[in-house]
Amino acid sequence: MVGPWSKFGDRYTRPTGALELMQDLGAAMDGEHSTLLLGGGNPGSIPEVQAIFRRRLTEIAASDESFERLVGRYAHPQGERRFRRLLAELLVREYGWDLTVDNIALTAGSQTGFFLLFNLLAGEFSDGSRRRILLPITPEYIGYTDVGLGEDHFVAQLPIIRELPDNFFKYHVNFDDLKVTGDIAAICVSRPTNPTGNVITDTELSKLDRMARAADVPLIVDSAYGLPFPRIVFTESTPLWNDNVILCMSLSKLGLPGVRTGIIIANEEIIAALTRMIAVLSLAVGSVGPVLLEQFLASGEILSLSQKLITPFYRSKALAACQLLQAQLDGIPYKIHTPEGAFFLWLWLPGLPIRSAALYERLKNSGVLVISGHHFFPGVTESWPHRDECLRISFAQDDDIVERGIGILAAEIKRSFAE
Ligand SMILES: Cc1ncc(COP(=O)(O)O)c(C=O)c1O
Repeated sequence: MVGPWSKFGDRYTRPTGALELMQDLGAAMDGEHSTLLLGGGNPGSIPEVQAIFRRRLTEIAASDESFERLVGRYAHPQGERRFRRLLAELLVREYGWDLTVDNIALTAGSQTGFFLLFNLLAGEFSDGSRRRILLPITPEYIGYTDVGLGEDHFVAQLPIIRELPDNFFKYHVNFDDLKVTGDIAAICVSRPTNPTGNVITDTELSKLDRMARAADVPLIVDSAYGLPFPRIVFTESTPLWNDNVILCMSLSKLGLPGVRTGIIIANEEIIAALTRMIAVLSLAVGSVGPVLLEQFLASGEILSLSQKLITPFYRSKALAACQLLQAQLDGIPYKIHTPEGAFFLWLWLPGLPIRSAALYERLKNSGVLVISGHHFFPGVTESWPHRDECLRISFAQDDDIVERGIGILAAEIKRSFAE
């Protein structure tokens, strides 16, 4: 039998940007022809970091107690307790935040965490009202787009563009137009932002914090790339947490996307609600990520390895990718979002004669996967040509792949402008 599916089934089986992206990526990885993967969110391979995790895994496998906790027992539905305790202690030591083990829940990757959070806080309420998640600045993470159980789960705002020297630019929150109306359930921002590599400033973040408190809604900060780890941040920025902030972290960009561990840090009421949801959906969350990492939390090594190995790895790759683009796109109208974090370059091609979605297809046929920028405007209803003039290019893969990919990309862009 192939359908008809339930409304839930229809909702989650329809084509989505996230599905297209993951399928193209999967097909490219399985395929016979080599495709240059500048599209997905896979982290880079950092040999020193991999060696550290591999060594620890071997030690765990050799220890009866750790191995038992790694694979032989269900964890608490809130997540491995020792990991949560050690993380809480680390955050208290590092930032002085007023939190404990009960302010932390683990999820099967932060993508699942967003599904739970966004549907817990927003959607249809028993009094018939609807509430939505406000994205104060777009472009914003593609993965949020389709997680809502209902339609119109997001309302979003376009950014202000500040042009910078040397063909760079930066998006800022347009506070003049930002209103937290009565139908808003929460404000959410990724910092660093996927896809742009933007790190909204400390001033912008504290203004959002104040607006959220004034409207009595939580501020969700998605720190999948950010502080305290994996610290793929190239500018000075201060992390924020208080009992109105929901800070979301992940082990994926440390180089561990396979362990599927997301972390939510919030007030106890929200954590208790999430724990109940997790128990229903999956009984418990996997323990591999938590058990693998707990020693690095206890020693604080997670912070030093982020700072000494992960930040510089991506910083130098960002610089090299910018230099390649700048050299190869000379003579073409282009701008790059100033890379402040994460591992993407966001390329804006003002006046691009074809839509970025068509450019994506051409590039795919030429053996390069990037992502068309139009996917990154969840909740935006206004038309804006800028949406169809941008590409997200990952620079996380090996230098040779990035170099060849950018070469083909630049040639295809030049062809598109010449037509
Ligand atoms: C901004 C952002 N948030 C969340 C996620 C989800 O990460 P995961 O589910 O692997 O923890 C990603 C993945 O690419 C991301 O880029």
